[in-house]
Amino acid sequence: MRTFPTVRPRRLRQNDKIRGLVRETHLQVDQLVYPMFVAEGITEPREITSMPGIMQWPVDQLGREAERIANLGIPSILLFGIPTEKDAVGTQAYADEGIIQQAIRRLKKETPETLVVTDVCLCEYTDHGHCGVIHNGTVQNDESLKLLSQMALSHVEAGADIVSPSDMMDGRIGALRQTLDEHSFQHIPIMAYSAKYASGFYGPFREAAGSTPQFGDRRSYQMDPANLREALLEVEQDISEGADILMVKPALSYLDVIREVRTHFDLPLAAYNVSGEYSMIKAAAQQGWIDEERIIMEVLTSIRRAGADILITYFAPEVATWLK
Ligand code: PBG
Repeated sequence: MRTFPTVRPRRLRQNDKIRGLVRETHLQVDQLVYPMFVAEGITEPREITSMPGIMQWPVDQLGREAERIANLGIPSILLFGIPTEKDAVGTQAYADEGIIQQAIRRLKKETPETLVVTDVCLCEYTDHGHCGVIHNGTVQNDESLKLLSQMALSHVEAGADIVSPSDMMDGRIGALRQTLDEHSFQHIPIMAYSAKYASGFYGPFREAAGSTPQFGDRRSYQMDPANLREALLEVEQDISEGADILMVKPALSYLDVIREVRTHFDLPLAAYNVSGEYSMIKAAAQQGWIDEERIIMEVLTSIRRAGADILITYFAPEVATWLK
């Protein structure tokens, strides 16, 4: 039997070079997507208190920041818009002169090399803060699909390269695909937030995006954190409706979900290392309690090891610098 003392796993851990030779998982800058927030009605970048280092950007300064990101070698950004005006049906989400549409047009002009992915969801644009239209206190699925499709279309018309629906309504991938195809945007990929959980880890983002629900919570559309098989059903459904890239979100408490999706399906898979996951590390690092660089690299490597191809992370600029 091959066992100790013949077998000695430590032989391959002796030094950096040997460890490098047998390393199974690698982080690369071209796998990173950096989320960015563009806000209407501000003239200076505004730091998000609960997310040190992350800003809301005025539209006329977004290009400068996008250029910095591109210069670090990060190929893509995930863009969120924060409007000044909110209403019951999220009108600014699909307005031609909405903040996000303006931002996309400027980015495509000022930094055309940046791949612009847009988040398609109504919660930043509705006064009630939910991801769809409300009647009698409940989020209406099919009615919301029409608005989400309109929103995706307006992003693509403004120049978005990829749309990424995060609302978790049923049938949204099919609805978006059909609308985009009808308008000759067959070539635009959809990155589906397929398994998006109703998570406490989105807390800091809701401050960043001003999208906290004014009543109730998102549990009637986002997934129960206890469920894994359901994630596979969601993914299967999204694939059948035409998703091009899958996503699991959040990442860290859901590494098993990432692994299962990777095992069962062959589409490219993204994982969203969300705001709460960022803030916890930043807070501990600011206290001097952890080695920030080491922890960030370990966390992102674990998400890759679980099976994700694409990492959506607020740490992208730091990581890009360390990978250089
Ligand atoms: C919009 C959306 C959310 C996130 C991405 N898109 C918030 C939510 O669903 O409440 C979370 C991102 C993060 O926490 O970093 N629906």
